[in-house]
Amino acid sequence: MAKQRILVIGASGQIGVELTLALRKIYGNNNVIASDLREQSPLLEGTGPYVSLDVMNKEMLHVQVIRQNVTQIYLLAAILSATGEKNPNLAWSLNMQSLLNVLDIAREEKLTKVYWPSSIAVFGPTSPRQNCPQQTIIEPTTVYGISKYAGEFWCNYYFNRYGLDVRSLRYPGLISYKSEPGGGTTDYAVEIFHAAKAEKKYTSFLQEDTYLPMMYMSDAIRATIELMEAPLEKINIRTSYNLSGMSFSPKEISEEIKKHIPEFEMSYKPDYRQQIANSWPQSIDDTVARKDWGWKEEYNLEAMVKDMLLNV
Ligand code: NAD
Ligand code: SER
Repeated sequence: MAKQRILVIGASGQIGVELTLALRKIYGNNNVIASDLREQSPLLEGTGPYVSLDVMNKEMLHVQVIRQNVTQIYLLAAILSATGEKNPNLAWSLNMQSLLNVLDIAREEKLTKVYWPSSIAVFGPTSPRQNCPQQTIIEPTTVYGISKYAGEFWCNYYFNRYGLDVRSLRYPGLISYKSEPGGGTTDYAVEIFHAAKAEKKYTSFLQEDTYLPMMYMSDAIRATIELMEAPLEKINIRTSYNLSGMSFSPKEISEEIKKHIPEFEMSYKPDYRQQIANSWPQSIDDTVARKDWGWKEEYNLEAMVKDMLLNV
């Protein structure tokens, strides 16, 4: 394979930091260009090139792709579910236009691959709540979910019409300690660890019995890289693959934390995010990803909680 030059857009975010570091290990520090609207994450400093970039400025994006000899783009810039409900127009505009800009430039410059994440938020209240399958009724009720579902079909369109090798995963809620989450409904499952260690108590913004699909970040990074490195003929889904790691409720994660911090106290004060969580499935069936490119998670709730408490 010819030398790859990778541009990561949204590299200072929750996924971006860890994905950039992982890609740099594989492709070489100088071949992975981190970019973001905000300043570079301190964790990325000194590990490779960084450019300040607004993905909404198509001309500047195009200039950077040419100037840096980019062959692949990982587009991570987006407004997530909870923040999206506060400003639906902005969420629609960023989530859609960023993708269209990237797809268009990728087609024009004949990039080898594009990665763009979708989310479990594509599913809505009419989708099956348990083991939600790859293909099913999909009627999202959040602006974030609508933008992800529309985006999936743009990816599919660019693959079918222009042969652009664009790949995608429907991530569950992601749990990590290196960089903060960016305004999602699943963020409680990260906040809880910081509160447990600092104050030994946490007030959840979701009810105790709200089950949601979740995944530990190291599994999500590995899934992303395994998908992107899979041979072309293994990729049969060109919208976005269902992906599953674990599923738990606020009560279950608090009980797991109590095994390590017995004095930890959990209370509940649901807010507007409860309605978003109620619209999503409780668990996901990712048989197709397992069959097509061999996906398998490593972390369950117990292993994730142990590792988070060690590292937060
Ligand atoms: P995040 O909010 O932590 O990071 C997004 C980054 O994009 C931020 O650093 C932000 O500064 C940057 N950005 C925003 N506007 C930009 C612009 N105009 N130009 C350039 N950069 C811009 O988000 P994340 O959690 O890392 O999510 C990354 C992707 O994964 C998103 O598409 C998100 O929808 C998807 N996803 C995330 C989760 C999760 O639990 N974190 C779950 C499902 C899907
Ligand atoms: N973690 C994300 C959110 O809650 C799911 O896409 O918005």
